[in-house]
Amino acid sequence: MIDFIIDVLGDLVFEGTKAGAKKINRSVKSAKLRKKIEEAADIIKNGGLVAFPTETVYGLGADAFNSRAVERIYAAKGRPSDNPLILHVADIKQFLELVEPPPDYALALAKAYWPGPLTLIAKKKYHIPEWVGGHPQKSTATIGVRVPNHPIALALITAAGCPIAAPSANKSGRPSPTSAAHVAEDFSANSEIDIVLDGAISNVGLESTVVDVTGDFPVILRPGAITKEMILKTTGLQPSEATVTDAPRSPGIKYKHYAPKAQVIILKGEPGSIAEYILKECKANAEQKIGVLVTAPTKSILDKNALPNMKVITLGNGHEAMAKNLFSNLRQFDKLGVSVIFAESVQFSGLGIAIMDRMLKAAEGNVFNV
Ligand code: TXA
Ligand code: MG
Repeated sequence: MIDFIIDVLGDLVFEGTKAGAKKINRSVKSAKLRKKIEEAADIIKNGGLVAFPTETVYGLGADAFNSRAVERIYAAKGRPSDNPLILHVADIKQFLELVEPPPDYALALAKAYWPGPLTLIAKKKYHIPEWVGGHPQKSTATIGVRVPNHPIALALITAAGCPIAAPSANKSGRPSPTSAAHVAEDFSANSEIDIVLDGAISNVGLESTVVDVTGDFPVILRPGAITKEMILKTTGLQPSEATVTDAPRSPGIKYKHYAPKAQVIILKGEPGSIAEYILKECKANAEQKIGVLVTAPTKSILDKNALPNMKVITLGNGHEAMAKNLFSNLRQFDKLGVSVIFAESVQFSGLGIAIMDRMLKAAEGNVFNV
């Protein structure tokens, strides 16, 4: 029987909710929680798997240097072996122990945004085993590293005394988990996870921005809460952006991701025309439950025309709230048993770029202009 620890945290202090803004309080005050973190750290040291909270999404962690443990991550998730993992470290010093001296702009990014939702892809130091950072049967010249902005994650890494390799703690292809309950949805008690540490709901809600810093200028491989404007401001360098066609550079982006069970269709247009389209579809398919994920103005039009098969969830007020709730909203639609989800397109700027990236992946590129 697997021991799932679901802990309620009363005394965690989050200072500020803005991504990359204030740093969190690193100390974990509760003795009970500290004990659970020690227990989890022992599991990591002994080759076990620990699901733990971060500010972006929950991670499924193992000792990054233990090949059998890392193999268990791939098996538990059903993750393709050519998709490398992010190593979670406690500070910049630990990052520099893993990688060749990175360019100045990379250090500027690390100093500005760590702990925070930023992953740097850098050249591996010569003495690091060639498989580390990926599947034990593969080799990789680069390594993805980040310092998460969550007191439990930082305490766990420090107590374990090793970098923790951790992808998001979902089954491959499912929306990333932003709560311990989401992790428990994907991994049953028969699965290979040994413990889930509960650290409340992830503040950012979308996975970290992945930036390749192996060249003369930054390349964004996956958009996130650290936006290209922030990277430009910090480094003075215009980052380039990989698109889905650049898939081999970040294998993760070529797989269908973040998808709920229902088909997702993104609708682009004015609230009035989006509402009109949805109402027409709901009436024409009255026997099906239809999920609707829209902005407040569109919802207020739909509310006046409520239909029994139309299940409406609001995207949230502003990009930060939309990002924080997106994955849990997609999971909520699964629970409601909808067959289709109509999701309203959001403004393609700032954090909106990361939100649209995840929505487009869930929709497999399906966008209707209405
Ligand atoms: O916010 C996050 O990044 C979360 C939390 C748990 O830290 N983790 C996460 O991990 O999203 P995962 O495995 O779901 O996504 C890691 C992404 C993938 O797209 C992967 O291909 C890319 O980072 N990646 C990792 N190492 C890489 C490398 N050496 N080169 C290129 N891409 C890499
Ligand atoms: Mg993932």
